[in-house]
Amino acid sequence: MPQAHTEDFLATCASLTDQALEQRLPTIDQAPARLHEAMRYSVLGGGKRIRPALAMATACAAGGQPEQALTGACAVELIHAYSLIHDDLPAMDDDDLRRGRPTTHIRFDQATAILAGDALQALAFEWLAGEASLPAGTRLAMVQTLAAASGTLGMVGGQAIDLAAVGQSLDLEALEQMHRRKTGALIEASVRLGLLSAVPADDGVRTRLQAPLDSYARAIGLAFQVQDDLLDIEGDTEVTGKRQGSDAARSKPTYPALMGVDSARRYLDTLLDQCRDSLSGFGPEADALRGMAEFVVSRRY
Ligand code: IPE
Ligand code: IPE
Ligand code: MG
Ligand code: MG
Ligand code: MG
Repeated sequence: MPQAHTEDFLATCASLTDQALEQRLPTIDQAPARLHEAMRYSVLGGGKRIRPALAMATACAAGGQPEQALTGACAVELIHAYSLIHDDLPAMDDDDLRRGRPTTHIRFDQATAILAGDALQALAFEWLAGEASLPAGTRLAMVQTLAAASGTLGMVGGQAIDLAAVGQSLDLEALEQMHRRKTGALIEASVRLGLLSAVPADDGVRTRLQAPLDSYARAIGLAFQVQDDLLDIEGDTEVTGKRQGSDAARSKPTYPALMGVDSARRYLDTLLDQCRDSLSGFGPEADALRGMAEFVVSRRY
């Protein structure tokens, strides 16, 4: 189980992120008010803020402070929120509950939900490009990192594979590819954004840290979706805020569906070991990353 200081770290990161998002998102007194309201509804008021916390934990592992990663953290959270809005639409997973509340298209309407997602995606890149505290080259690298993770080789590509695979049985390699893209890519980007934010000028330190952090991110990114699949079976709607059994109802290809619940859980142990091994060259500065990995494989929400 994650230790108390991981819970504290997560709470601190969530609070920093929530505050920044609250301040930076367009307000509802600006037109188009209903669209801004839908964007704020989808981003604020819930969410574990795992991706922001990973960016911040990475900044710490690179010798920096959590706050340095804030803009990258907020940008990846916007892409995540947009991906959830679209993921819940009738044309995709057709879900009506998210974070314990009606999904965006139920609370508003489908057109507004689609546009809110579109607008959040654009805003993420506007925030990265406009982060005046970072050199232009670093901002460009951040834009490129997040764009690649969001596109067809990342989240959107993974979602396309997910939808094309409904009702079919993927083999393990295809399932892993799908998970790595639809969920892993944004998690890997969170870690990279954290590193870029904390070490904006590459003096060799960044290059040295990149490979072990990428390796950690790949393992935790996959673990995150394996646990998400398990929670769809074993989780409690009251705790997850999502309808339990949604994957099975739609014959989704998932890890437990393919290999069974016990094997999926054992696979999580392997991935947790991979996270720890990746960080073996780091000292206590990477404890937040270690704690995050434990949290991800044991979370109930
Ligand atoms: C859910 O992500 C969607 C997946 C990529 C599995 P989270 O579990 O991070 O959702 P929130 O942001 O905490 O609601
Ligand atoms: C979602 O996977 C991945 C993205 C939103 C990109 P799921 O469809 O399993 O996520 P939940 O379970 O609805 O949160
Ligand atoms: Mg989905
Ligand atoms: Mg879904
Ligand atoms: Mg799921």
